[in-house]
Amino acid sequence: MKEKLEAIKTSALAKLEAATDLDVLNEIKVEYLGKKGELTSVLKSMKEVLPEDRPKVGQMVNDVRNVIEEKLEEVRNSFAAKLREEKMKAEVIDVTLPARKPDIGHRHPNSIALDEMERFFVGMGYEIVEGPEVEYDYYNFEALNIPANHPAKDEQDTFYINGDILLRTQTSPCQVRVMESTKPPIRVIAPGRVFRSDEVDGTHSPCFHQVEGLVIDKNITFADLKGTLAEFAKELFGEDTKVKFRPHHFPFTEPSAEMDVTCFKCGGKGCRFCKGSGWIEILGCGMVHPKVLKMSGIDPDEYTGFAFGVGLERIALLKYEIDDMRLLYENDTRFLKQF
Ligand code: DAH
Repeated sequence: MKEKLEAIKTSALAKLEAATDLDVLNEIKVEYLGKKGELTSVLKSMKEVLPEDRPKVGQMVNDVRNVIEEKLEEVRNSFAAKLREEKMKAEVIDVTLPARKPDIGHRHPNSIALDEMERFFVGMGYEIVEGPEVEYDYYNFEALNIPANHPAKDEQDTFYINGDILLRTQTSPCQVRVMESTKPPIRVIAPGRVFRSDEVDGTHSPCFHQVEGLVIDKNITFADLKGTLAEFAKELFGEDTKVKFRPHHFPFTEPSAEMDVTCFKCGGKGCRFCKGSGWIEILGCGMVHPKVLKMSGIDPDEYTGFAFGVGLERIALLKYEIDDMRLLYENDTRFLKQF
């Protein structure tokens, strides 16, 4: 009996040692420890053993069972460890690989130029205000001293919603809204989108942006306007920039002017960029017309003020030497990333 048990033990251990996967392990388990297994059959043959020897043999069977179970467990654990190791190897992360950069786009030249303007004027104590893009005829024209028969009101220039309501053609209506609701002193800039019934080409778009400026206080003169806008031009185009005011006409200012800056490409000598003149026009401005002040409830005998209007695209195009306005609206990141 003893030899038989030894033989079972030896062969079981050898098979376990040679096992290569969990299925084989299970087969071995059934073969030796199962109900119809080798050890069970030994127990069944106990009746052939002398009664006084039975406890000893029983003990021997149990010992062999324990040895086989231990080995089984050991081999099973080694399989699990091997499996885990293989999985780790397969899923290894190479921390030295370069990371994939998220594409976060780029700020638009309009936004960069506007930020710069806002920073300048906020630094001078101006407030930034906004007005509606869908505006009343009254604010866009009437209250700015643009009467009913003015050519600017023509349907060829203006998108009308109905007789009284339109898409604003300028940011100047913001002036009226601010004057109606605020007591001077007033110092504001009003950036925003404006609309005109224009065909798209290299210098025109039916939708573009302006930045309006308005200052109202006691004793504001044309000298304040000139000083402010000359500083503004230096901020935008560099310390050496000079400015020139040419008489012009706007219905809401008197006197009115257009401001030119010395060409920042040639410094004023004349080049292809400034079409040989040495000067580049950048904005419209003037002293707020007394009629406009009065219509918005401000006494023109007590207060005076100046206003100006800048085309944002115009500044962005000039600053970054972009020669076609359409590029600003295509939002091609290959273009935008250059600024
Ligand atoms: N609103 C004018 C335009 O669209 C620009 C302008 C000119 C605004 C003179 C002003 C100004 O405030 O004083 O052409």
